[in-house]
Order: sequence, then C-alpha cells, then structure tokens
Amino acid sequence: MRINQILKIQLLLTSCLLGGFAQAADIQNGKTLHQAKCYQCHAEKSGLGNGDVIYTRLDRKAKDLAKVKSMVAMCNTELRLDLFPEDEADLVAYINQQFYKYK
Ligand code: HEC
Repeated sequence: MRINQILKIQLLLTSCLLGGFAQAADIQNGKTLHQAKCYQCHAEKSGLGNGDVIYTRLDRKAKDLAKVKSMVAMCNTELRLDLFPEDEADLVAYINQQFYKYK
C-alpha cells in the first residue's frame, strides 16, 4: 500500500473518531498536497521559477470555479498523480482561496 493511501486511511479514521463525516474541504491538506505534488512542475513549466504564478498570470486558463475544478482534475488524471476525489476538492479549495478567489 502506498504511503499516501496509508496516511489517507489514518486521516479518515481520525475524522470518523471525531465524528466529522460530512466535513468541508480541508484547506491545510490542499496546501500540503499542492506543495508536494503541484508546485514544482508549475514552477518549471511557467519558466518563472515560481509555482504559484500559473494561477495569477493574466492569460490564466481557469476563469471561474468550474474551470479551476476541471484544470485540477486534468492535471491529476493527465499526469496520473493518483489523487483521491477528496484531495482534489481540498486542492481546489486551497488554490481558490489563495489565488483565484472566485465565489
Ligand atoms: C508535470 C507537470 C504538472 C504537474 C505535476 C501539475 N500540473 Fe497543473 N499545470 C501544468 C501545466 C503545463 C499547466 C498549464 C496548462 C496550460 O496552460 O494549458 C497547468 C495548469 C494548471 C492549472 C490552471 C492554471 C490556470 O491557467 O488558471 C491548474 C488549476 C492546475 N494546473 C492545477 C494543478 C494541481 C492542483 C496539481 C497538483 C495536484 C497540478 N496542477 C500538477 C502542469 C502540471
């Protein structure tokens, strides 16, 4: 079993114990995942050495929240990053709160 699956299961068990089943997106988890899986490649691909500017550049692709979701899903599936749907949701919540700020 892969390490992030194990961690995920631990996280799930913990949240069950705390009784927090239908919780809102976990921004902190999104931030951690972003740092671990997304930042480096965006920094390289943008050629700017900064993995955050891809979200705030003028000609950014994600013009609304639905598009943010689909771009995250695209990077996840195209690149086979193997994220769980909850992780994708956490990532969307994090980058939207931090960068896009769509309603
Ligand atoms: C191997 C490289 C790579 C990795 C890893 C990667 N991405 Fe991307 N991502 C790209 C590239 C290249 C683009 C620009 C696509 C374009 O401009 O058409 C992009 C664009 C995006 C955009 C749209 C930015 C905009 O223009 O508004 C989002 C959102 C995004 N990625 C999310 C993620 C998330 C979340 C992860 C981590 C789970 C991730 N990406 C991991 C290469 C990557």
